[in-house]
Amino acid sequence: MKRTLITLAMTLSVAAPAMADLALATSKNCMACHAVDKKLVGPSYKDVAAKYAGQKDAVDKLAAKIIKGGAGVWGPVPMPANAQVNDADAKKLAAWVMTIK
Ligand code: HEC
Repeated sequence: MKRTLITLAMTLSVAAPAMADLALATSKNCMACHAVDKKLVGPSYKDVAAKYAGQKDAVDKLAAKIIKGGAGVWGPVPMPANAQVNDADAKKLAAWVMTIK
């Protein structure tokens, strides 16, 4: 029983940050156009992470794009600016996207 609880606590402490970031993405309306593993209006976060994997400045670049919006990377549909997202949250979201596999 004790061991089960310890395992559970460890599992939760690993999963919790990712879930917090999904909640943040949901609250910032990102999930209206994006899903983790399939294309909606915008690319899936999995595809984004794969495209920029190994690029050192990926988080900064994506964070800037999340705030300002942008077009032309994934197709003809542009992403509008997300003015409700501040710098810190944009970095957090970009870093989270880059962890998705
Ligand atoms: C109205 C729909 C919409 C919303 C809302 C939206 N996106 Fe996007 N997003 C897009 C589209 C469309 C693209 C592809 C743009 C392109 O081809 O350059 C995109 C691209 C991206 C990319 C990849 C950028 C690149 O240069 O490869 C990331 C990361 C991203 N969005 C994150 C977010 C986050 C985080 C939020 C919430 C703050 C968000 N998006 C909200 C539609 C949206």
